[in-house]
Amino acid sequence: MASLSIENVKKQFGKTVVLRDICLDITHGEFLVLVGPSGCGKSTLLNLIAGLETISDGVIRIGEKDVTHVPPKDRDIAMVFQSYALYPNMNVRKNISFGLETRKMARPEIKKQVEKVAAMLQIEDLLDRKPAQLSGGQRQRVAMGRALAREPAIFLFDEPLSNLDAKLRVDMRTEIKLLHQKVGTTIVYVTHDQIEAMTLADRIAVMKDGVIQQFGSPREIYDNPSSMFVAGFIGSPAMNFIPCELGEEDGEYGILLTAGQDETCFIPAGGLCRNPGDLAGKSLVLGLRPEQIGAALPGDQILPPMSRLTCRVDVVEPTGPDTLVFTRINRVKTTCRIHPDRAVAPGQTMDLTLDTSKAVLFDSAAGTRIQ
Ligand SMILES: Nc1ncnc2c1ncn2[C@@H]1O[C@H](COP(=O)(O)OP(=O)(O)O)[C@@H](O)[C@H]1O
Ligand SMILES: [Mg+2]
Repeated sequence: MASLSIENVKKQFGKTVVLRDICLDITHGEFLVLVGPSGCGKSTLLNLIAGLETISDGVIRIGEKDVTHVPPKDRDIAMVFQSYALYPNMNVRKNISFGLETRKMARPEIKKQVEKVAAMLQIEDLLDRKPAQLSGGQRQRVAMGRALAREPAIFLFDEPLSNLDAKLRVDMRTEIKLLHQKVGTTIVYVTHDQIEAMTLADRIAVMKDGVIQQFGSPREIYDNPSSMFVAGFIGSPAMNFIPCELGEEDGEYGILLTAGQDETCFIPAGGLCRNPGDLAGKSLVLGLRPEQIGAALPGDQILPPMSRLTCRVDVVEPTGPDTLVFTRINRVKTTCRIHPDRAVAPGQTMDLTLDTSKAVLFDSAAGTRIQ
């Protein structure tokens, strides 16, 4: 186990800047997830940590040691790739033990180590098989076993579940989390899947165009996104972005939402940001997650931070545990997550409650959060 510190790291390929001024600090035993759209620089950053690419500027430390220019084999890390990269002509036992043999570990010790990780990953029955005789999930386990056997200070995972089918991906996700709870090794895990990021991470770094947009716990990132990009990237179904402007009602600043012709509700701006007066004339976006919009029952008393708005239902999508109801607020498509018993048929109107306690406000032009 070791801590990892990335200080002002830059990477360019020729003239193309791929990573700009990356700073990240994680403590030993932490599970860090790097998440972002394809091409944002996740694998490049992981390869820099592994030493597989040379760094253009900055410092990387593993534990107390500056490893910026240390070759990969001396960094005490193990990496698991999306393409498992198993040796096809070696059986599972050999695939796991090979790295230990090249490190000149004693034979009885190697045997013990292979059996230990095989038991941990429940692949004892597969030790004599070749990779071609394994399913995708089993191959992934073997690749993890190979990394685990070396007992590195840090594990690096690059989209390890991308090649698996949906159900297996969810099962393996839980197993990786369990494994981390058992062995406690520091992990840096790359994925483009925001649900993997939310479910696995102690902390998430959300990346875009070679820049870290936000670094925080899953909860912080979900409840307090620092930009429209982060807010829209994390969460499924995605946060609703409702365009709006500052208004005034009875001397109070607020935001007016309209549904259909004359159904409106007024959301006091005081609960959304510190200085509502500064918002005058700005194009704003109100960020409201689907689960913050529910169904009001007749006679329900709606008190702030809740508001009531009667909306026309366009489309209804049952998902099982909840039903997604699509309507329009301020003319844009808005997703609401409703208890299945409360949804009405398309074309009908529904009394919705908007819980603005966690709603967020953005500057529409800059895409930045207004606190
Ligand atoms: N060896 C390379 N030479 C030139 N450009 C590269 C090289 N490797 C990656 N890139 C570019 O760097 C950017 C980030 O790539 P990558 O780190 O693989 O993204 P991600 O893993 O987030 O999908 C991409 O635009 C990619 O084309
Ligand atoms: Mg990648």
